[in-house]
Amino acid sequence: MRALSTIDEVRDWERGAHASGRTVGFVPTMGALHEGHLALISRAREISDEVIVSIYVNPTQFGPSEDLSSYPRPLEADLAACEDEGVAAVFTPSDAMMYPEGFCTFVEVEGLSERIEGASRPGHFRGVTTVVLKLFHIVRPDVAVFGWKDAQQFLILRRMVEDLALPVRMEGVETVREPDGLALSSRNAYLTDEERAQAPAIHRALQAGLARIVAGARDVAPIREVILKTLGEAPLIRLDRLDIVQRDTLEPLNRIAPEKTLIAIAAHLGRARLIDNVRV
Ligand code: PAF
Repeated sequence: MRALSTIDEVRDWERGAHASGRTVGFVPTMGALHEGHLALISRAREISDEVIVSIYVNPTQFGPSEDLSSYPRPLEADLAACEDEGVAAVFTPSDAMMYPEGFCTFVEVEGLSERIEGASRPGHFRGVTTVVLKLFHIVRPDVAVFGWKDAQQFLILRRMVEDLALPVRMEGVETVREPDGLALSSRNAYLTDEERAQAPAIHRALQAGLARIVAGARDVAPIREVILKTLGEAPLIRLDRLDIVQRDTLEPLNRIAPEKTLIAIAAHLGRARLIDNVRV
């Protein structure tokens, strides 16, 4: 596995892969890799010849009171995991490389970036789209793989790719869960034992809402009610957001639009802010 830390090194590697007729699959990450990331890598390996992973904790997507400084950075373990998964190259850029002095160019997907998570985390998606666009320009992948756990991120990035006619195919991978339903997240590491025991209520609540929809419910109000009631069974969970929205526009819905609905929860549990969602 090649360990690449400069833009020139990545460009040389990418040119070599493409010159020999091999396709490049890209998995951008912030490290602290878990089974969810490994599922992205595995999918990238299935659909491309060479896989490159980036590991970069992107400062511009963290708000001033968020966990940028404490975000886990187990680089050695991450590199070993990539090696084990058959990754061809890992790119670990520095802040100075991604945001050199004088950096002042940002890209923003308007509207979508301000809704649901964006309303709670102003500027977050502007940071995500900016860093991912820059990474796409450096890596020049044929396909990029993201998780549906960050559904809004995926929808925004897909929009950016379409709007800017970027020559990259976007691939989404389903959320990987613990046996009790908790979505895997690097931030689960912040949970105490007691918080960890209550965390699956987020998934249970989404499933309770989904069960109502499967049973024929279409009005959003009773679906919200059942989700809130299930979350209420876990008193350590402090709900930040419960959004039931149209999947393309992320606009709130009064009635469920089958195949077009996203139900998303963001909740605080101790130090962790956890997100999860279900697509209906
Ligand atoms: O999903 C993530 O880990 C990050 O938001 C990403 C896409 C790597 C951009 O920093």
